[in-house]
Amino acid sequence: MSQYVTVRREGDIAVVTLDNPPVNSLSHHLREPLDAALRDLRDDASVAAVVIHCAGRTFIAGADITEFNTPKATASPNLRELIVTLETFAKPTVAAIHGTAFGGGLELAMGCHFRVADGRAQFGLPEVKLGLLPGAGGTVRLPRLIGPEKALSAIVSGNPIGAEAALADGLVDAVYDDDLVANAITFAREGISAGKPLVAVRDREKKLAAARNDLAGFDSQIAEVLKKAKGLDAPKRCADAVRNALTMPFDEALVTERKYFVELVDGDQSKAQRHLFFAQREAAKVQGIGPDVKPRAVKRVGVIGAGTMGGGIAMSFLNGGIPVTILEMSKEALERGIHNMEKNYAISVQRGSMSEDAKTKRMGLLSGTTNYADLADCDLIVEAVFEEMGVKKEVFGKLDTVSNLGAILASNTSYLDVDEIAASTSRPADVLGLHFFSPANVMKLLEIVRGAKTAPDVIATALDVARRIGKVPVVVGVCHGFVGNRMLASRSAELEDLLLEGATPAQVDKVFTDFGWPMGPFAMGDLAGLDIGWRNRKSLGKTAAVADALCEQGRFGQKTGKGFYLYEAGSRAPKSDPEVEALIEAKARENGVNRRDISAEEIAERTMYPMINEGAKVLEEGIAARASDIDIVWTNGYGFPIGKGGPMFWAELEGLGKIVERLEYWHGKTGKDVFDPSALMRRAAEAGSFRHASSTGKVA
Ligand code: NAI
Repeated sequence: MSQYVTVRREGDIAVVTLDNPPVNSLSHHLREPLDAALRDLRDDASVAAVVIHCAGRTFIAGADITEFNTPKATASPNLRELIVTLETFAKPTVAAIHGTAFGGGLELAMGCHFRVADGRAQFGLPEVKLGLLPGAGGTVRLPRLIGPEKALSAIVSGNPIGAEAALADGLVDAVYDDDLVANAITFAREGISAGKPLVAVRDREKKLAAARNDLAGFDSQIAEVLKKAKGLDAPKRCADAVRNALTMPFDEALVTERKYFVELVDGDQSKAQRHLFFAQREAAKVQGIGPDVKPRAVKRVGVIGAGTMGGGIAMSFLNGGIPVTILEMSKEALERGIHNMEKNYAISVQRGSMSEDAKTKRMGLLSGTTNYADLADCDLIVEAVFEEMGVKKEVFGKLDTVSNLGAILASNTSYLDVDEIAASTSRPADVLGLHFFSPANVMKLLEIVRGAKTAPDVIATALDVARRIGKVPVVVGVCHGFVGNRMLASRSAELEDLLLEGATPAQVDKVFTDFGWPMGPFAMGDLAGLDIGWRNRKSLGKTAAVADALCEQGRFGQKTGKGFYLYEAGSRAPKSDPEVEALIEAKARENGVNRRDISAEEIAERTMYPMINEGAKVLEEGIAARASDIDIVWTNGYGFPIGKGGPMFWAELEGLGKIVERLEYWHGKTGKDVFDPSALMRRAAEAGSFRHASSTGKVA
């Protein structure tokens, strides 16, 4: 036998144990001995039935993704061959599933005649999340077991199915609370004595009948589930493949599924999504924060300020089951803030995404106060007050005096210097930035800002807490705007000039939405409110000809029904406004700018390329530790299309040499700094990738 696959006998039942830690993925070194064992058992007349289970914490959790795009991935015996071997057994085969049966794991289990499971087991085909589809019969077998409608939703979403639903839907035949393998053996034995017929999943057609008779109805379901596909190919191919299970004979559907898989696995979108999968894991690894650095215990969190961000931040912790004390300046502001949180939860209940019970439980973990002394029992305090250094310093000074020794003090500042804030306390080692994104209870990204003096275990605690509340953390260094907002400023630097020189807001926004962003910058500005930037510019003594003029006319965006666009009563759909175009023309004349036609290409070059250049500067200064961390920031916090893998990954595909050349062109033409290629940008262009470009390291 092999260290990965062992077979033992319980009378005439053979029990096959797979043991490929940590998650029993289907590596070639597992498939080979498994295939050999199955062939032996098939031909062994003394074996009446076979039970397959896994050692360790889970059933097969999927393919071995480190084998992707390597010869090992398809080397014989491949998963499809293994499943054929299983499916043609003339004696019962039973998969005994605990933990997670995901991807190839579930596909293998569907090659068995029967599936039994532990009550806590989960089942899923999450390939779509890597830009793929299940490529070993998942799209053809799952509809036969649970019906095409449920299979469509499971495969297109990639979301898991719990044991209870799996039993109700027919994915598994029995669920047990304990003694899974012993129960599986009994299940096999009872099946044999009852003379249960052995019908391979491929031959089960009953559940396909209704949808086969109403393909038009099934197509409208497809259209519905694809609404969330966001320009990605994989969800569409998943749906096509499930449809093929209805319209094609089994083997033809299987071959077509494989064809789609090969197309997707070779495509840029899947490469981008797999890059992001690994990037997210990588981002959690931070230099100097090894397993020896233990996080501090966080049992209660304090939040200062119950405004837009404070409320959302508090909800994030409540959602993660962590009690929160929220503090405001006045009773009225506190009540308003808590009321808003309650209202937000009520909307979730109304939409059916949360139960009334869960809402009550979460609000039950919240207490409000106007008294700093009530924060004494908080282990972590997140400040989300006005974005003014004076106010922040005052708040941190107070926190320093009231909070426990060892309590961590965090600021949600968007731009301010975290080291300066830390210096207003007697414990700079316990201070850091925790930059949430709006709406904070929804957005996944958390920039963890590591100050010059932040202690390693404070960073470890932030990473741990982020995981507990379901955020995607990226550790960044201190600079104006950190990684995300700093790059956003570079992306926005040319927007006003593009308008003055001849573009319209709609033309610019279309370049962004065509690229795959959910929204263009002008529609986004209208959504966020143009008055915020206006006030900010005024305080800094800066101007923006078009945006300032709009604000002077009271055009603050959606909230006033007018901004860069016009919004009809009750609508959020932006409509081009001739008045805005006239205003832009007038401002161009005033500033002596000759208007001309501006191409989509020019718009992309003057917005996206400076953003990449700034990303290179961020890397050069060690504000981000890796290019892939920047990709995680942009795909989780700013709507960068995931099918393009984040700005730095996309830039490499676009061609770093081409980007440098065009940056130089625009730099020569305008003399503006945003176009001046950074040293690291040039080096990366020569190397063809950011990976080998070194940084000087604030966080690196
Ligand atoms: P906001 O104006 O909605 O809320 C600030 C709240 O803080 C107000 O309710 C105010 O009463 C309270 N407050 C002010 N001084 C206080 C004090 N001394 N003690 C207790 N409470 C006090 O502002 P918002 O948008 O929530 O921003 C808060 C912070 O979060 C700022 O630093 C901002 O830069 C940052 N941020 C904002 C984002 C956004 O999209 N709005 C995104 C990420 C960060």
